[in-house]
Amino acid sequence: MDNFSFYSPTYFAFGKDSENRAGELVKRFGGSKVLIHYGGGSVVRSGLLDRVKASLNAEGIAFVELGGVKPNPRSGLVYEGIDLCKKENVDFILAVGGGSTIDSSKAIAAGCLYDGDFWDFYCGKAHIEKALPVGTVLTIAAAGSEGSPDSVITKEEGMLKRGTGSDAIRPKFSILNPALTQTLPAYQTAAGATDIIAHLYERYLTNTKNVETTDRMIEALILAMVNETPKVIADPNDYDARANIMWAGMMAHNNSCGVGRSQDWTSHGIEHELSALYDCAHGAGLAVTMPAVFTYTMKHDVMRFAQIAVRVWGCQMDFANPENTAKKGIEALKGFLKSIGMPLTFDELGAKEEDIKKLAETATLGSGKIVGFTELSTEDVENIYRLML
Ligand code: NZQ
Ligand code: ZN
Repeated sequence: MDNFSFYSPTYFAFGKDSENRAGELVKRFGGSKVLIHYGGGSVVRSGLLDRVKASLNAEGIAFVELGGVKPNPRSGLVYEGIDLCKKENVDFILAVGGGSTIDSSKAIAAGCLYDGDFWDFYCGKAHIEKALPVGTVLTIAAAGSEGSPDSVITKEEGMLKRGTGSDAIRPKFSILNPALTQTLPAYQTAAGATDIIAHLYERYLTNTKNVETTDRMIEALILAMVNETPKVIADPNDYDARANIMWAGMMAHNNSCGVGRSQDWTSHGIEHELSALYDCAHGAGLAVTMPAVFTYTMKHDVMRFAQIAVRVWGCQMDFANPENTAKKGIEALKGFLKSIGMPLTFDELGAKEEDIKKLAETATLGSGKIVGFTELSTEDVENIYRLML
């Protein structure tokens, strides 16, 4: 295991009606003037936004609002949010929604305390040293942004989707009420589950030896996702299954399973170009991407893929030919993704063959490669996109 530092100070309020604690928690973490940031309207329709406002009012906390965050959140609204916060002297950002709303909130929080262009953080020009405090009320189990130090934003110019990370933007608190996810369409639920599974796989694919503890944590979480996801597809109101998925989503990405080991992130890098260009759900893009990446990179460490095939997917170990086992594990993953209604091909995602060259070039922009579990050139990435056809 490698040396590591792990700092994860987010306070979690989990369970039914926990959104009513928003005011109390904003106060506890020092907020007196809040920006409530939200998406395209699901939190308005469900009545959640009104309950959050009532909770702030009950604590005498002033607020302004900015809705309209799109899935795969855009830089334009971030600039608008920064201007609004400066004008209104906002000292706390409260994200009410999914990963996109939380990521947009984190970008605003960092941009408010920075003299330059907030995009500097996303294009690698600057690192986030300070930010306004962020709290979240999560409405979808997926991105894990409620516990992560990361934020992913798409710059409208060129539709460049890029991420950044800093402990300064880890949420101070996150309110996780699984019942809030019951209004999600089945496709969005499945896309969220796929993203969670991807966060686990991308940590599992490591070059670090002797990481049994985190290997076993990851395997357990994937198994839980495989057991619980079909339950909520069959019955969206299954609270207990929703609760298990919601906590798995947080655990999958706050990096407790990823410490002390190298990580992959190839599938995410390759997928981000798909959601940037076609505006598909990130999780749906990952369903198409992961099997292709795994098939292409499997030979780098066949035993790692064989291990997950046996331990998670229940495959029989073929000692004479471990590659068979590894392949069966990838097939089992595909079968599972299909069973929950996820796309598996470019066509099903609405992606186009003629864009492949451009996708591969943007995915490897700058360095001309993606370095993760293995090192991939632009040509390798192009080959991987072709496997998705
Ligand atoms: O915008 P509204 O109207 O709220 O609708 C949203 C949106 O259309 C809807 N939704 C959310 N909760 C709902 C609901 N509809 C009904 N009932 C509810 N309870 O779902 C749609 C998707 O929302 P979004 O926030 O985009 O989903 P998700 O959480 O999957 O976030 C995806 C974004 O997170 C990034 C992705 O790249 C993508 O941009 N990621 C962020 C990460 C991080 N910060 O750590 C890591 C991830 O790997 C990921 O890259
Ligand atoms: Zn993801």
